[in-house]
Amino acid sequence: TTPLRLGIAGLGTVGAGVVKIVQSHAGLLARRGGRPLVISAVSARSRGKDRGVDLSDYAWEDDPVALARRDDVDVLVELMGGSDGPAKAATEAALATGKDVVTANKAMLAIHGQALAETAEAAGRVIRFEAAVAGGIPVVKALTEGLAGNRIDRIMGVMNGTCNYILTRMEREGLPYETVFEEAQALGYLEADPTLDVGGIDAGHKLALLTAIGFGARVDFDAVELEGIERISIVDIRYAADMGFRIKLLGVAQTTGRGLEQRMSPCLVPANSPLGQLEGATNMVVLEGDAVGQIVLRGAGAGEGPTASAVMSDILDIARGFRVPTFGQPAAGLETARPARATVA
Ligand code: HSE
Repeated sequence: TTPLRLGIAGLGTVGAGVVKIVQSHAGLLARRGGRPLVISAVSARSRGKDRGVDLSDYAWEDDPVALARRDDVDVLVELMGGSDGPAKAATEAALATGKDVVTANKAMLAIHGQALAETAEAAGRVIRFEAAVAGGIPVVKALTEGLAGNRIDRIMGVMNGTCNYILTRMEREGLPYETVFEEAQALGYLEADPTLDVGGIDAGHKLALLTAIGFGARVDFDAVELEGIERISIVDIRYAADMGFRIKLLGVAQTTGRGLEQRMSPCLVPANSPLGQLEGATNMVVLEGDAVGQIVLRGAGAGEGPTASAVMSDILDIARGFRVPTFGQPAAGLETARPARATVA
């Protein structure tokens, strides 16, 4: 059987994690995918860095676009991040030269996903992004496959582990926001631009992707009503606790009288509910379908193993020949509601 040949762009935590799984689970992956997986080439910013993996069997490209165009690559595995720049250029180059794309890049997809999905479809290629939403939790596949027979009524979730860590520490240890923020930074939890986390943007990107999949709408990140956790104080948390609630950075997508609404904001959730019991740097996604009722998915939303696990599931889908687009053909007439922005004097 013909091997599926991978080009991996980006060798940070997740990229190195993917290489490790491909190397350590070769037999299992070949059985599951029906064909062997091979890494043809890799690309990253610095070649010399020790990543704890042996890359000597793979061709090296300094330029991810060159990697994407290589003849010995069938699938571009884009793990660089960033909504524009090299990630988007490499994705476009891959689609233009007949490759499928697997990516963990929520920012790129939340902003350019609609256009990229249309490009992919026109080219007869697929873009897969299980790892872009809630890391190791297979929520994209839950929506596209497991719940395919349902009308989706609501999607809710805690989709940023760092914010959940900060809020949980503030509550449990009685520490002020600033102290826990610094702690999270020291632990390496925060993104290079921390506003992506604490401003709710990263979680908003993820919600926009789930909304598009679940409701069959266009990906519309600009329509997400966004509020971060920067202004949550220990006093807010204590008042909430006194009333039996906890404060979570919660995403909600549902249809209302205004259309399809998407919000990512600090919310009071009952302390005894599944969402209210979520501790630390963890994610939880709650899906409601008309036939299935409510299901709750919980797990690690970030980190090497969990994110690489999700990337592998997409690579195996492609190896097996599963090529249904995740989104790209929105239902006619379904509009996302524009955010009702408060006017600040
Ligand atoms: N910074 C994200 C989080 C991880 O804390 O959940 C990747 O999106």
